[in-house]
Amino acid sequence: MCGIIGYIGKKRATPILMEGLKKMEYRGYDSSGLAVIERDGIKCTKKEGKIENLEKELPTMDLDGVVGIAHTRWATHGEPSDEHAHPHWGCKKDLFLVHNGIIENYPQLKEQLIKEGHKIKTKTDTEILAHLIEKYYEDEDVKLEQAVQKALQNVKGTYGIAVITSDEPNKIVVARMGSPLVLGIISDGEYLIASDVTAILKHTRNVMYLEDGEMATVTDEGMEVVTLDNKPVEKKTEKVDWEIAQAEKKGYPHFMLKEIMEQPEVVLNAIRGRMMEEEGLAHLGGFIEQKGRLAKINSITIVACGTAYYAGMVGEYMIEEYAGIPVDVEYASEFRYKKPVIDENTAVIVITQSGETADTLAALREAKRKGALTLGIVNVVGSTIAREVDAGAYSHAGPEIGVASTKAFMSQLAILALVTMFLGRQRNMSLVMGQRILEELKEMPKKIEKVLKQNDEIKRLAKKYYKSPSFFFMGRKYNFPIALEGALKLKEISYIHAEGYGSGEMKHGPIALIDDKFPSFFLAPQDSVYEKVISNMEEIKARKGKIIAVATQGDKAIEKIADDVIYIPKTIEMLSPMLTVVPMQLFAYHVAVLLKRDVDQPRNLAKSVTVE
Ligand code: M6R
Repeated sequence: MCGIIGYIGKKRATPILMEGLKKMEYRGYDSSGLAVIERDGIKCTKKEGKIENLEKELPTMDLDGVVGIAHTRWATHGEPSDEHAHPHWGCKKDLFLVHNGIIENYPQLKEQLIKEGHKIKTKTDTEILAHLIEKYYEDEDVKLEQAVQKALQNVKGTYGIAVITSDEPNKIVVARMGSPLVLGIISDGEYLIASDVTAILKHTRNVMYLEDGEMATVTDEGMEVVTLDNKPVEKKTEKVDWEIAQAEKKGYPHFMLKEIMEQPEVVLNAIRGRMMEEEGLAHLGGFIEQKGRLAKINSITIVACGTAYYAGMVGEYMIEEYAGIPVDVEYASEFRYKKPVIDENTAVIVITQSGETADTLAALREAKRKGALTLGIVNVVGSTIAREVDAGAYSHAGPEIGVASTKAFMSQLAILALVTMFLGRQRNMSLVMGQRILEELKEMPKKIEKVLKQNDEIKRLAKKYYKSPSFFFMGRKYNFPIALEGALKLKEISYIHAEGYGSGEMKHGPIALIDDKFPSFFLAPQDSVYEKVISNMEEIKARKGKIIAVATQGDKAIEKIADDVIYIPKTIEMLSPMLTVVPMQLFAYHVAVLLKRDVDQPRNLAKSVTVE
């Protein structure tokens, strides 16, 4: 999704901006552009397609300026094109703007601006904002930050913006409403602004997060933060503790493979310091602060999108079985528009890797309005959702760059197991059961490692099946969400049609598709529904369907039904998704590589979905 980077200081801005744009490529984009303040005015260039296209323009432009803004765009209004890429400018071409988010009332604003004589050239909502600021900036006594403030008072929608003008060449004005912005402090007089902390990590770890309704004026003499109605805001500097190396590929051909391989360590990081083995308790700081309220809740609603939603579904099985609390799992995009039956006795658990997903954020705000206790399982530290929930637990998966979520999902499962224990031990879960879950959770990194060692075998399976036009993924109970996740992984990075089902649902329709060319993945660990899943496999076999099974080590019987088997170590049922998901991720990865897809940045997708 769109990315913003801006620099002000003493160095040439262009290389810093270009480097920042590249760090944000993983978010997904369709065009990019930059504007730099030069001695003779602002120079701007923008190009559809990859950042290399923009890079090719630079040598002819001779950019030396020390103040600039840049952007990667993911089209919402107007098709991807050079013209629609950001920055955008007003009539006089001396005020430039980059924008993330959507200006909802732009048609009305556009009509008004046209009546007032503004010449609008593109179909974008962003250009309207540039003209609107220009309109308020026409008055000679008005400074850029005041014009921005006035313009934003007329705007409905979401934005993270950065604005520059050649009239005040030593200034960047930024503002935020519903779209993240972070200010990076390199030294006194040298600052970065970005929509994504990854873009600035190389230069500084000292950051300030802007909140919704805040704006900042950044000059080479310092920064001033105020609210949009001009009240001063005291901000604290925070330290980001991610390693840059964590955000790089470490020699793997793709971020996705690196992230899959990191999963044993990810689980260790998620559970470290959070297990009280003797007492059979989970030590989750944020949850402990809310333990009084948590002891009283009588229902839980989990809201999330995509992969995080499937983690929530696993959480539903865990919490209902071990803590005895009814759980509802809702797509955040649906939850925000329905009339959710929740109150102060409901805990709403929000699961998100990025912490910025627009639908999830809106659902969280709705839950807060209804008085529910809101809890977050969030990966990105300092993200909007992390800051807005009542309490939460960070996933500690480190930066996830591949658009397809893998290690964040794994960490979400580990945290959900701990949350289950926390809630269960407040209720009827026995000490022995608590200890047993922790013991098994501790073993999980080694067990995941064993699954990862079968990478070559899974690659061989990918070679055997990658030409199939469709796949089914099936499982039951804890592994039903993993079937859904397996199908999502395959379709999003390989573009092969794949569907996930609870395998009991097969005979209610989908089985009509099965013939000798249609392969199905079955998640069939030896658990409480094993026999049922085997029966479902037989039904597919009887129709000559090809079967790839994920089974428990030592289950030789399954080889008689399945065409191919991948084995996982034995574990307790509630934690089995942490093992069964790994072959799903690796299979999708290898198929996508064989099909020469853009694994880390699949077409049409963005890492962080910050628009509705
Ligand atoms: O950042 P979030 O966890 O809130 O993102 C939610 C989904 O957009 C995300 O999981 C998406 O489905 C991934 N592409 C799945 O791999």
